[in-house]
Amino acid sequence: MSQSESQHAESHNIENMLHEERLFPVPKAFKPQVSFKSEEEYLAAWNHAKDAPAEFWGQIAKENLVWETPFETVMQGDMPETKWFQGGKLNASVQCVDKHIGTARQNKAAIIWEGEPGDVRVLRYQDLYREVCKFANVLKTLGVQMGDRVTIYMPMVPELVIATLACARIGATHSIIFGGFSADAIADRNNDAKAKLIITADAGWRRGKEVSLKKTVDESLAKAVTVEKVVVYRRTGCDVEMVPDRDYWWHELMAKAQAECEPTPLDSEHPLFILYTSGSTGKPKGVLHSTAGYCLGAAMTSKWVFDIADTDTYWCTADVGWITGHSYVVYGPLSQGASILMYEGAPNWPDEGRFWQLIEKYRVSIFYTAPTAIRSFMKSGDQWPQQYDLSSLRLLGTVGEPINPKAWMWYHTIIGGERCPIVDTWWQTETGGIMLSPLPGVTATKPGSCTKPLPGVVPAIMSEEGEPLGDNEGGLLVMTQPWPHMLRTLYGDHERFKETYFSKIPGLYFAGDGARRDQDGYFWILGRVDDVLNVSGHRLSTMEVESALVSHPSVAEAAVVGFPHDLKGEGICCFVTVNTSTANPGEDLKKELINHVRKQIGALATPDQVRFAAALPKTRSGKIMRRLLRDIAAGKETIGDTTTLEDYNVVAKLRTEDE
Ligand code: WT7
Repeated sequence: MSQSESQHAESHNIENMLHEERLFPVPKAFKPQVSFKSEEEYLAAWNHAKDAPAEFWGQIAKENLVWETPFETVMQGDMPETKWFQGGKLNASVQCVDKHIGTARQNKAAIIWEGEPGDVRVLRYQDLYREVCKFANVLKTLGVQMGDRVTIYMPMVPELVIATLACARIGATHSIIFGGFSADAIADRNNDAKAKLIITADAGWRRGKEVSLKKTVDESLAKAVTVEKVVVYRRTGCDVEMVPDRDYWWHELMAKAQAECEPTPLDSEHPLFILYTSGSTGKPKGVLHSTAGYCLGAAMTSKWVFDIADTDTYWCTADVGWITGHSYVVYGPLSQGASILMYEGAPNWPDEGRFWQLIEKYRVSIFYTAPTAIRSFMKSGDQWPQQYDLSSLRLLGTVGEPINPKAWMWYHTIIGGERCPIVDTWWQTETGGIMLSPLPGVTATKPGSCTKPLPGVVPAIMSEEGEPLGDNEGGLLVMTQPWPHMLRTLYGDHERFKETYFSKIPGLYFAGDGARRDQDGYFWILGRVDDVLNVSGHRLSTMEVESALVSHPSVAEAAVVGFPHDLKGEGICCFVTVNTSTANPGEDLKKELINHVRKQIGALATPDQVRFAAALPKTRSGKIMRRLLRDIAAGKETIGDTTTLEDYNVVAKLRTEDE
């Protein structure tokens, strides 16, 4: 190959050099309860769904959803305009509650809840049913109708789930906003959705402090013109101002509400919810999900990936304000009749052992959390989990970003006692449910890989030009077939929807991640393609450099960004937080880390700068805000949207450390 040819070829693909060779078979102790039991079973289902998707999904939808009116067709139209289960009518709240009433599950705990101060509530399926019906009636008496949008801005209390399902019951489209967002962020989202009503609470508990919510809502209402009424749940009892004829107490309305409420039969494509997610630029995107397709996806993936059985106590630590909470706290597990644990507060309150203490106390068997949480637990030390009995755990999961092999190994040994499969689940707000993941009773795992596509998911790795790439070639991760739980549009902006997800490779779904598939058919996510560095003409995944850094014993967490470099085009800048045991990191450690990365990946990946930081700037969902770090690395003032930043002081500190 001539030099120009080779440069041409390189520019298409993402270099990937960190290859993890360890393979972990399904632990002997793990017996799948309701999920796939063998590789053959999985392959048969996967091939069936690929070759005859309408037949596959049609059969599954008949068996797994409760229909008021059966559907006539399974899928109609090409991606992105595919309509699913046309002619059918159903209600999402029926799939989560009514379905279990009159069965042995009606007296089973649906929600086991613990507040941050330690208060405990248990709602059986019958209790949840009654509360959802009552609150659905409350919404009706406040004038909410089918098709209206309702905003929910609440702490992690059972009433958050009740409000969500009550909206679904009357066909109001819910828009849940995470309780950490600012008044401006709420106002923008309310205006975009033209929300009629907002459900909130006086405050919630976080690290021993009251986080006021009603006050923030009040502030947002000065700018949100469509909101007519506010319902306030009393959680902490703090003082709030109630505006007559606008603000109503939850408990006063509920005291008068009827206990029965017929679910409204809704079209399969009826908009179940809008969830706002930030793009790299511009205003937040209102991802809209449907009723039938979304519910089916949440139900099936909960069954296949989490293997939820009646004997399980299931805990997904995500806030309901994120898609993970929608799909794997509410719609998925409740459709399976699961007993879910829900916890209000912070993982490190009153100390770093809180999560492990909760697992011991409630005998949690399935635990689903994020790599960023795992890394922060690792940083605080093994002595915390080691104080507790974690033997009830049988299955572990992760989501949100690639998990570096070091954190995977820690999760596997220290938390899972080497007896629990780890399901590394790749998906997005837009995909509605898990797309790539191990099946816990079938798939041998490789630390750092989300392994293989679930049935119904047909991914491909392509070059920028839309050419399929071969084994171990890094490229764009696309979906070549529609699936029931994919987003239907961006609320109010169908053009932006088509442009954002279906234009890079025309006709195929692409939502921004790079990946490679190895020789065994395993997928390795290389991060967002906007996080790709271009060092001397080589596209290099920032995630690989981060993973190499984190594999060094002194490093707790790392974030890598590019900065303009005269010679290389882009230089590599590494922000590193060290373990608590590493005192005063200095020049020696910097040199050591640079060599470490060189050794792990190669000379091409040699960091140009290493900067030690006390903490990294993260969004409230735990994603590192690389855009901010890029600005710092380039010596620029920070511009753009920082409304999702968890702790703004972190940025200020990084700047001063720079000077
Ligand atoms: C992005 C989606 C889906 C729930 C939480 C985040 C990254 C997610 C993984 C994983 C590697 C992952 C991707 C994706 N991501 N899960 N298991 N391995 N990367 O939802 O905010 O919509 O973010 O998170 O980059 O595109 P989201």
